[in-house]
Amino acid sequence: MQNYIVANWKSNKNLEEVELWWEEFIQLTIPHLDDLQDEVIIAPPYPGLMMLAQALETQSPKLSQHISLAVQDLSPYPAGSYTGAVCGRNLEKLGVKYALVGHSERRRYFHETHQDVANKVAQAVRNGITPIVCFDETYLRAQAEVIEFEYLEKCVVAYEPLTAIGTGHNVQVDEVAAAVAEAKEEFGQVPVLYGGSVKPDNVESYLEVVDGVLVGGASLNPDTFSQLVYRA
Ligand code: PGA
Repeated sequence: MQNYIVANWKSNKNLEEVELWWEEFIQLTIPHLDDLQDEVIIAPPYPGLMMLAQALETQSPKLSQHISLAVQDLSPYPAGSYTGAVCGRNLEKLGVKYALVGHSERRRYFHETHQDVANKVAQAVRNGITPIVCFDETYLRAQAEVIEFEYLEKCVVAYEPLTAIGTGHNVQVDEVAAAVAEAKEEFGQVPVLYGGSVKPDNVESYLEVVDGVLVGGASLNPDTFSQLVYRA
């Protein structure tokens, strides 16, 4: 089964570091190209998008069949007078396939509400981008309730328990399985990912119960991330 392996770099890396990461990751990837089953999704900070989009275009078509780009956030508004916001239209021609929306860090530091997240979902779908909606169990239902019904099944969702993000405190697999069931009740038969201290040594256990993983810290180093992608 194809899984989604998402690298969320958050606000890390300048352009030089993006280039170095990519070069090393590609070197590690080429020998495994024929075994690559999963969809690898890279979510760099906005400035890195252009470089990665161009790099993908110049690589073998097989590689771009398996590696996609995501943004870490998306404006809740369409194109227009919204200073500082990056909307779906701004991303055209960059090959952005996914948008993380409602990451807990956005909710916490930028005070995003469930309604903001719902508006981002709408903007993503209307612009042909698949939203990856992040949730914790405590607000899963409240979040799903404000997303327009017709868009629910167009989402990928990511269970991101607050206690596990960036802490090294892993959530038990059975707890993740329970959250997957709840997410499917609210959103329908959508892919459900898990995020929170995913590492090469625990990724397999999560992939038994989810359709993919959202990886922060362990995605920053290309070697560690490739161990997660090419689970021998
Ligand atoms: P982490 O971050 O892998 O560093 O815990 C996950 C996330 O925030 O999506």
